[in-house]
Amino acid sequence: MADFLNSYSIQRWLELCPQGYLEDTVYGHEEGESEAEVLLADDDLRTDAIRSTVQLVVGERAALAASSGLVNAAPDYPSKHFLATQTLDEARHVEIFTQRLFDLGVKKADLESTIDHFANPHLVKFAEVLLEKVDSGDFIAGVVGQNIVLEGLAFSVFEMMETSNRVSNPKFAHTLAGTIADERRHVGFGENRIGSLIKEHPEKKSEIEQMQKDMAYHMLKTFSLSFDEGRDNVDKARDVMGDVGSADFHGTDLSTATSEEMQTVLEQTVIGEFKTRLARIGLEYQAPVGV
Ligand SMILES: [Fe+2]
Ligand SMILES: [Fe+2]
Repeated sequence: MADFLNSYSIQRWLELCPQGYLEDTVYGHEEGESEAEVLLADDDLRTDAIRSTVQLVVGERAALAASSGLVNAAPDYPSKHFLATQTLDEARHVEIFTQRLFDLGVKKADLESTIDHFANPHLVKFAEVLLEKVDSGDFIAGVVGQNIVLEGLAFSVFEMMETSNRVSNPKFAHTLAGTIADERRHVGFGENRIGSLIKEHPEKKSEIEQMQKDMAYHMLKTFSLSFDEGRDNVDKARDVMGDVGSADFHGTDLSTATSEEMQTVLEQTVIGEFKTRLARIGLEYQAPVGV
């Protein structure tokens, strides 16, 4: 418990995060950096970037609602402290990805209508499954849904986006790098805090596994729709954005992969992460049917 207290304290968060890797950043990136000019100049690519950034905002708004809701549901103060730091992290993620929408040309007055227009309906469902558990005050299911499933998903998606933007759009890659560091901490908390609680409450297992199965179903549907929507512009993006350098993501070169190959490697990576992390807390991954 002493290690747990130190690793997830507010003091540790201050040292690691605001006084550490976020020091001197502006909305998550280096001062003076801006979106790639070629991206801003091409309407198709700019619209694609707005669409994919909207999904980040939708996911992070869900994470903000979940982590703040879990503060009150947590049974102990060390967990409440950690979740309070996580709440601020998630609010920051909402803010920096919203700022990216503005940087991509979305007008402030059009923010909510743009989010409504582009939000992937399956991602909205995915968030609803989680928030239902949080709203009912179910701490164990809420932490599994948030810190293992939602953040396992976010972690891999951010890594994939960071890899493909590192050379062509360093401003966005830097924004993602800070969120990846935050998500790593959040996932670690989920694994460390929940394993012992699940052992104490084996009767909760089947309900939690059902939630995970439902969330995985909506996640895979989210991927299918997203890759379908982006497919037409994959080649154009490569032409316009230029050389993305070495872009290896779990054995797939993102600079040459087809849209189908990218979808496959992302699905395999996220599901692999789920299996590993769920096993660490004593749960078995449940594959959804019909996707
Ligand atoms: Fe987040
Ligand atoms: Fe997070």
